[in-house]
Amino acid sequence: MSRPRSVAAVAKERLKSPRARLFVALDLPDELREGVAAWGGEALADPALRPVASESLHITLAFLGYRPEKEVEAIGAVVREGAGPAPWVELLDPVPRPPHGKARLYALPALSPGAEALQEGLAQSLAEAGFYESEKRPYWPHVTVARVRPEGRGSRRPAVVTEPPGKLPAGLSEARICRRMTLYRSELQPSGARYVPLAQVQLPG
Ligand code: 2AM
Repeated sequence: MSRPRSVAAVAKERLKSPRARLFVALDLPDELREGVAAWGGEALADPALRPVASESLHITLAFLGYRPEKEVEAIGAVVREGAGPAPWVELLDPVPRPPHGKARLYALPALSPGAEALQEGLAQSLAEAGFYESEKRPYWPHVTVARVRPEGRGSRRPAVVTEPPGKLPAGLSEARICRRMTLYRSELQPSGARYVPLAQVQLPG
């Protein structure tokens, strides 16, 4: 019988096998991404909110968590092979998450049967390749536009948002086609996460 490994042994192994925090996203077309960021400049002005930077706005398709870096190339190949038809996406007005109680983030839900189909196929092929464990909760396509800052230093409770974001202007809710899917590495930094593209695929159609 093998002995349980000590915390130090696990940490040492991690050093030998660096890990990357990965997710696959559907990128928004530039003019929509920039439009949402410009709207957010005014709508997300509450001091309790930390708006997501324009270049980081996306619709997550699959969050893989920490994976060994040596898997990145093979994961990129699965993502490229998983390219389905470019989906139409319609963004809806911002909603808080969780929906009741103190909000932790605000997101624009995305109406998109095409993104749901793309997500289903991608999740299945990533799972079959052993890189992903499908989530039990149903897939909820959305664009996170702001996270709520903590109540105070060291606190995990979100601050109170007194001015929640209002509706989107009509122009931003029009259906747009999203033509690119990207495998990102998420680098967590004190100022927020930075997303580095590792593999990209143009979606046909
Ligand atoms: P969110 O914006 O709704 O928080 C990078 O963290 C991206 O992966 C974010 O868009 C995030 O969604 C998404 N994601 C999905 N599941 C996650 C998880 N368990 N932990 C962190 N991010 C997750």
